[in-house]
Amino acid sequence: MVSRVIPVAPFDLVIFGATGDLARRKIIPSLFHRFAVGQMLPETQIIGAARTEMERLAFVDLIRASLLEFAPQAAENETQLAGFLNTLSYVRVDADGEAGWSVLADLLRPEAVRAFYLSVSPTLFGTISANLSAHGLASPDSRIVVEKPFGHDLASAQALNADLRRSFDEHQIYRIDHYLGKETVQNLMALRFANSLWEPLWNSTHIDHVQITVAESLGVEGRGEYYDRSGAMRDMVQNHLMQLLCLTAMEPPSKFTPDAVRDEKVKVIEALEPVEPANVVRGQYRACDGQGSYRDHAGDPQTHTECFVAMKVNIGNWRWAGTPFYLRTGKKLRARTSEIAVVFRDPPHMIFPKMEGRRGNALIIRLQPDEGITLRTTIKEPGPGGMRLAEVTLDMTFVDALGPQAEAQDAYERLIMDVIRGDQTLFMRGDEVEAAWAWADPVIASWHEARQVPSLYDAGSSGPEDALMLLHRDGRRWREIEA
Ligand SMILES: NC(=O)c1ccc[n+]([C@@H]2O[C@H](COP(=O)([O-])OP(=O)(O)OC[C@H]3O[C@@H](n4cnc5c(N)ncnc54)[C@H](OP(=O)(O)O)[C@@H]3O)[C@@H](O)[C@H]2O)c1
Repeated sequence: MVSRVIPVAPFDLVIFGATGDLARRKIIPSLFHRFAVGQMLPETQIIGAARTEMERLAFVDLIRASLLEFAPQAAENETQLAGFLNTLSYVRVDADGEAGWSVLADLLRPEAVRAFYLSVSPTLFGTISANLSAHGLASPDSRIVVEKPFGHDLASAQALNADLRRSFDEHQIYRIDHYLGKETVQNLMALRFANSLWEPLWNSTHIDHVQITVAESLGVEGRGEYYDRSGAMRDMVQNHLMQLLCLTAMEPPSKFTPDAVRDEKVKVIEALEPVEPANVVRGQYRACDGQGSYRDHAGDPQTHTECFVAMKVNIGNWRWAGTPFYLRTGKKLRARTSEIAVVFRDPPHMIFPKMEGRRGNALIIRLQPDEGITLRTTIKEPGPGGMRLAEVTLDMTFVDALGPQAEAQDAYERLIMDVIRGDQTLFMRGDEVEAAWAWADPVIASWHEARQVPSLYDAGSSGPEDALMLLHRDGRRWREIEA
């Protein structure tokens, strides 16, 4: 099945921080892919902005080299690559100063959709949005896109929101969480709200528990000092895992509009019960096989910052009371994998002989690798050996089911096109981000008050023993972390 590409009208996109890592590795290659399939038209303008003095041609060379590295298919079609590079221009702009704003204003076309992508430190969000407004660049329907981290805690998130809202209305602000741009995440909504099969089962009567795992096999080598200022709770749980939890647990919105969807997500966050300290495990990987420990990589032998978190979360509402959500994320684990596993309760009365190792029904929504959906079911073991049971998985890997088209898109491609189309469904609303911090802050504060030291775990393992115990003591077990 090949999805239809509907071109978007030529737009003006200004990327602040266009010479930086994120722009060169993700944003611009994503735009190139949309150009290559005909969704972004040649009349579009991509305007790079940063402080470095640079001629347009030097910027084009920089982007050409980035595309050849991060979008290797760019090398296959020189005409296409030239066509894309032709859409680029560069303006030297200092976020904090006066340079460049009027040049930028002259380049922007009044009739085109206008978006400003802030691929810079959040400390610059306020000054850039104020300058956009002061220099008359922020038209009423222009859009502003901001990257994570969106705040360090509730107070800083509120300050960022206030900074942005001084110059832009909430309907113009696009807070990116690239997890929401993943095909499977949207499929979770399609699965739940376009099928009548699941909804009757989607509650605590039928679902025993939910496991959300985002595991990484790499450590924090090379960026440990930066990472150590946030930790796994701030870097992953408050945003990515929280978004996955919301989409799994939310009520069906009355319609598929950005605010109807986001209203339901906020209600989930507001229904989260405070997390008891006994229901959280924090960890750090230890040194092994000649590789450094988390503390080595963070450059601080005393640091208590966690690079692993596992927690049991309860949602206090009618649908989910009695069905815990277990969240787990960490660095240097056995494999790089992200999934949501919805584990169903056993039948109330089992008429067949007990099956050793039986795990029961589970619906697994896999985000990476190989985005897809798997349903674990129990069947009769084939053969004449009597009525013995076996478990099989009904597997729908999207690439197998839908063809290579299913894996071609990076989350950024979809999200940037949504910005241009003016669709905020997959972007976090300001109150949603603040609600997530209001839930996360007390958890983090309790660690500091208790001066809690993270548990150690081996690189390549599933995390600390205590994390296994978190489920064992409830008579459950984590799914294996495997690629
Ligand atoms: N890299 C990633 O994978 C990633 C992932 C998620 C989120 N993010 C977030 O995205 C943002 C950008 O990250 P990055 O890794 O691309 O950073 P980076 O490599 O350090 O790039 C920063 C960019 O901002 C420009 N810049 C810095 N100060 C400026 C100023 N005063 N005025 C105008 N431009 C300025 C820099 O160019 P000049 O020095 O020439 O001005 C450069 O182009 C950060 O907030 C980061 O947390 C990054």
